[in-house]
Amino acid sequence: MSKAGRLVVLVSGSGTNLQALLDASADPAYGARVVAVGADREGIEGLARATRAQVPTFVEKLGEYPTRADWDAAIAARIAAYEPDLVVSAGFMKILGTPTLQAFPVLNTHPALLPSFPGAHGVRDALAHGVKVTGCTVMLADEGIDTGPIVAQEAVPVLPDDDEAVLHERIKTVERRLLVEIVGRMAREGWTVSGRTVRIGNQSGGEST
Ligand code: GRF
Repeated sequence: MSKAGRLVVLVSGSGTNLQALLDASADPAYGARVVAVGADREGIEGLARATRAQVPTFVEKLGEYPTRADWDAAIAARIAAYEPDLVVSAGFMKILGTPTLQAFPVLNTHPALLPSFPGAHGVRDALAHGVKVTGCTVMLADEGIDTGPIVAQEAVPVLPDDDEAVLHERIKTVERRLLVEIVGRMAREGWTVSGRTVRIGNQSGGEST
């Protein structure tokens, strides 16, 4: 059973999910702490949040590498330097490649109820479809786009006057709480993956290493 004390968090934007993890990990009882924050671009609030929290940061821009494979190897190496137990992709707008996925468990958060509305515009797509309920999904990343085994989901209502920004903010309020809860439980209790089924903690009460 895996456990997750050291977190590397990857961001591409405002980093409010990162902030929720930073705040939670101020309490040692949380069981996990953010040891580094990585990004695919500079000048974002997510990196500023890390700096304010005195957490080291790194940036790897896809455009600075001749091929995607070179970027995949570079970001994997940057992550590996911090020896994480778990990588959290929290609003990171790139798909991680095999070098990272084979080396570390990667947790991802998505603002829709997968498998509905995967991809970069989950909130917009759900709204355009006219759903009355959407939500957020915390899953383990695999090589696909939002296709990995689901760890947790929570529903959020769509209200009649919602636009994309209003609905996304309502989802993110739930998403931050769910992500903090799940990362903490994974760190404290460990987890197992069997096919597409993710189980946190040792339900049988037996050995948990
Ligand atoms: C989250 O809703 C995440 O699921 C999506 O982008 C948002 C990131 O928000 N991919 P933040 O940067 O954590 O504030």
